Amino acid sequence: MRKKIVAGNWKMNMNLEEGIKFAGSVNNYFKEKPSEKAEVVLCTPFIHLAGVSEILRNGKISAGAQNCASEASGAYTGEVSAMMVKSTGAEYVIIGHSERRTYYHETDSELNKKTALALAAGLKVIFCCGEVKEEREAGKHTEVVKRQLTDGLFSLPAESMANVVIAYEPVWAIGTGLTATPQQAQEMHHYIRSLLNEKFGEDCAATMTILYGGSCKPSNAAELFSLPDVDGGLIGGASLKLEDFTAIVEAV
Ligand code: PGA
Repeated sequence: MRKKIVAGNWKMNMNLEEGIKFAGSVNNYFKEKPSEKAEVVLCTPFIHLAGVSEILRNGKISAGAQNCASEASGAYTGEVSAMMVKSTGAEYVIIGHSERRTYYHETDSELNKKTALALAAGLKVIFCCGEVKEEREAGKHTEVVKRQLTDGLFSLPAESMANVVIAYEPVWAIGTGLTATPQQAQEMHHYIRSLLNEKFGEDCAATMTILYGGSCKPSNAAELFSLPDVDGGLIGGASLKLEDFTAIVEAV
């Protein structure tokens, strides 16, 4: 059985007070109604992370960051290292989100360094991949995802894959209201599993949690999560509303 996960990606939303309050509400919700099928993760801005981790400490859900530095420590003004993320009590870090790749020009090789540092710090990595609209229209989506995974992830040792979760997020579906069709999502998730099989073997392919992300909401979550190779979701916009987020978790 693969682990199912629903991770909220708050992106750059909510000030500290709002974020702490919201994490408290999510935590209380799942204390009363524990999510039996899926692990729940809240990926918050760095500023919120220590406070949110503290709130979640005795609860049922985990905290994560949305990024970490590609260097271990030192003179990198404004950066936050994987060790620092870990020291807040957070368990996860998202690496390679398309917004980081696009707006901050993060390259596959930098993402590879970030992933290695995060794993070495004892974090679990949610490694994102996905094609832009033009690449899908040109029929290059599998090629793009293969490159992102090969260059960003596959040079790491097989043992470390136990602490990696892959999130397939077609960029054209993120925050746009457009969702991959069940066929498109299943096809890509299955393809990713075949790449894992080739590179790391059957066990890794069978046990890797692969999340879908991109305009996932209460109305489409159940259908997406019922696909054989989809093991949960990475949720942006809908993770900012308690009702929507909890409904998505319950759709697993
Ligand atoms: P969205 O974002 O759910 O708002 O489309 C998903 C993501 O970027 O992780």
